Amino acid sequence: MKISIFGLGYVGAVTAGCLAQQGHQVVGVDVSEQKVQTLNRGESPIIEPGLEELLKQARQRGLLRACTDAAEAVAVTDLSLVCVGTPLTVSGAIDLGFARQVSEQIAEALRGRPKSHALVFRSTMVPGSTRLLVEQLLADCVGAGRLEVFYYPEFLREGTAVEDFLNPALAVVGTCDGLRPAAEPMELFGAEAAVVNWSTAEMVKYACNAFHATKITFANEIGRLGKQLDIDSTAVMSLLCRDSKLNLSPHYLRPGNPFGGSCLPKDVRALNHFSRQQGVPLPLLENILTSNDQHLRSLLQRIERSGQREVVILGLSFKANTDDLRESAMVEVAQNLLGRGHRVRIYDPQLNLAKLVGSNKRMIDAKMPHLASLLHEDLALAIGKEGLLVAAQRCASVAELAKVVTPKHRILDVNGWPELRQLPAKYEGFCW
Ligand SMILES: NC(=O)c1ccc[n+]([C@@H]2O[C@H](COP(=O)([O-])OP(=O)(O)OC[C@H]3O[C@@H](n4cnc5c(N)ncnc54)[C@H](O)[C@@H]3O)[C@@H](O)[C@H]2O)c1
Repeated sequence: MKISIFGLGYVGAVTAGCLAQQGHQVVGVDVSEQKVQTLNRGESPIIEPGLEELLKQARQRGLLRACTDAAEAVAVTDLSLVCVGTPLTVSGAIDLGFARQVSEQIAEALRGRPKSHALVFRSTMVPGSTRLLVEQLLADCVGAGRLEVFYYPEFLREGTAVEDFLNPALAVVGTCDGLRPAAEPMELFGAEAAVVNWSTAEMVKYACNAFHATKITFANEIGRLGKQLDIDSTAVMSLLCRDSKLNLSPHYLRPGNPFGGSCLPKDVRALNHFSRQQGVPLPLLENILTSNDQHLRSLLQRIERSGQREVVILGLSFKANTDDLRESAMVEVAQNLLGRGHRVRIYDPQLNLAKLVGSNKRMIDAKMPHLASLLHEDLALAIGKEGLLVAAQRCASVAELAKVVTPKHRILDVNGWPELRQLPAKYEGFCW
């Protein structure tokens, strides 16, 4: 393919070297005359293992050149990759100025030409940015069918960038409608690349970096506390990583219910108290419960905003297949809704009030002494003829629900149960 690359910094230079190595004809563009000259000498503008060699070979094979003229680069290529910087303003907002400049230049270069072109943004941009740039600067080219726009986040890490580019940890491509593009651009993205819409792809990049930052901070907090206690936190974290069932796995990495139960809230609270006693501030861990409370409040707001006075809770315990009600978010939801005058019905076949014992029983006696009057053993009676179904657990099958749910119901899916969309009621996901 003939490819132009806008921005010859850490991402652009690596991309140029790797694409040329794969046999593509590459034209690099940068506003910095110095970077352009460096690349044209076959040298690397940045320190990155293996890159200088790739650029030298690319120049020798006649597959790479650089210039400062955007129009010239667009004219001789079929696809442009945008790798310009997206720095932050003083307020912390992202500055799309360089991406705007390049978009304008590409639009200008394409205007009045019959040739079709693909534009691929690789710079990290907050969700909605690609759509904004297209609507504000590229709409006429897209409308005339001369330009197809993609968002293709870059996941490389400096220091191992060449290796990461050639063997990416993840490949995601965003298209306008989330549909798979034609074969040619897919060749560049890789057949394995997941195809989503622009803003989902933009969000994936931020989710990944936020996750990496969270992992590092978590390990560092465990490390700081361990050091204070003379515990080898390297051993602790190494053992934590040994569990690939619950720890290093997709488990617990799905938006849904606030967490609850007899262990997680209690143990996080105890760890927070203990670390404060030890004089070791752990801001990430100390804010976990605040975030969980916020999640619950946001669920209550969503229920309130539905305008439904009649609410049916499917699943009261803190997770499926247990009757443990301790710190269950749905107990809080039920209590709160009752306090606001909603009519609440509850269906949870795992719950047998007569069998509740110990702290579980004490908690429910204190918080919801009237639970028995809200709990229905019969699904049809619980569901009723209308109202909002708050689906917290899969405590009935979709086939059973299909017999009783009516178009007068509305569904709020709290825990990711996409099959509920098959029911005749209007469906809404809590976090999706
Ligand atoms: N550095 C990384 O490890 C990394 C990894 C993944 C994603 N990203 C993202 O990729 C983007 C680029 O990052 P970087 O580290 O390569 O930035 P960088 O600052 O090293 O390079 C950006 C380049 O863009 C050039 N530029 C600015 N305006 C231009 C214009 N109008 N036309 C042509 N060139 C122009 C600059 O001169 C500079 O050489 C950013 O959005 C960044 O967040 C970076």
